[in-house]
Amino acid sequence: MILRILTVGDVVGRAGLSHLQATLHAQKKALGVDLCIVNGENASEIKGICASDAQDLLYAGADIITLGNHAYSAPDIGNFLDDRSDIIIRPANFPAQNPGCGYTVTEVQGIRVLCVNMLGTVNLAPLDNPFLTMERILQAQKGNYDIVVLDMHAEATSEKYAMARAFDGKISVIFGTHTHVPTADLQILPGGTGYVTDLGMTGPEGGIIGAKTEPVLRMLRDHMPARFSVADGKVRAHAVLFSVDTDTCRTTAAKQLIF
Ligand SMILES: [Fe+2]
Repeated sequence: MILRILTVGDVVGRAGLSHLQATLHAQKKALGVDLCIVNGENASEIKGICASDAQDLLYAGADIITLGNHAYSAPDIGNFLDDRSDIIIRPANFPAQNPGCGYTVTEVQGIRVLCVNMLGTVNLAPLDNPFLTMERILQAQKGNYDIVVLDMHAEATSEKYAMARAFDGKISVIFGTHTHVPTADLQILPGGTGYVTDLGMTGPEGGIIGAKTEPVLRMLRDHMPARFSVADGKVRAHAVLFSVDTDTCRTTAAKQLIF
């Protein structure tokens, strides 16, 4: 059987969320999507996601929400991460005692899909080693899943690519998030892992990777403190649809989408 997994880039603010509310259900239906994974870590005005925005994202059509370096930025999110760890996951390499869980197993068409979220450590927080954390999860969950999907939320393209090489053939789909710019390297690796370095974002095109231009320039040009807010402009969702053969666990097709 072929499982069709739609992965959607980082949702930026209410603009990104509203766009998915207006489009995602129709896209899923048209594409025959079995499982939709959305990175939601910038959904609440760029930093983090609050519980009510997470609920809205689920109603909009996300089946699983992944997070990243802003996982804990929204003040009320800890309890929600604990209560709904079946559908919203934070990076697995945060300290183990932190709220929430770094992975979840969801059953789709009788197939158990282990979804994992990991944070890169190059130019980001010095969390646990993502490679060793991933190995530990696969070992601990052995027998509990049929296929694995990983959101590798990271700054460095090299670290994301290294993760793909390290787990080629062990993880069916690895998609990168965080940089908000879609990369042109969508591919199927020799072992069958479908991979893209970054999905891109679901947000407005008018500013700088989803944020208004002036505060970003104030920080980068003037080295002055700045408060970011969501940019204006046309909103698009950057996504990739992966088709996974559940008999071989290999990705057989992958297609980049903008809607
Ligand atoms: Fe991020």
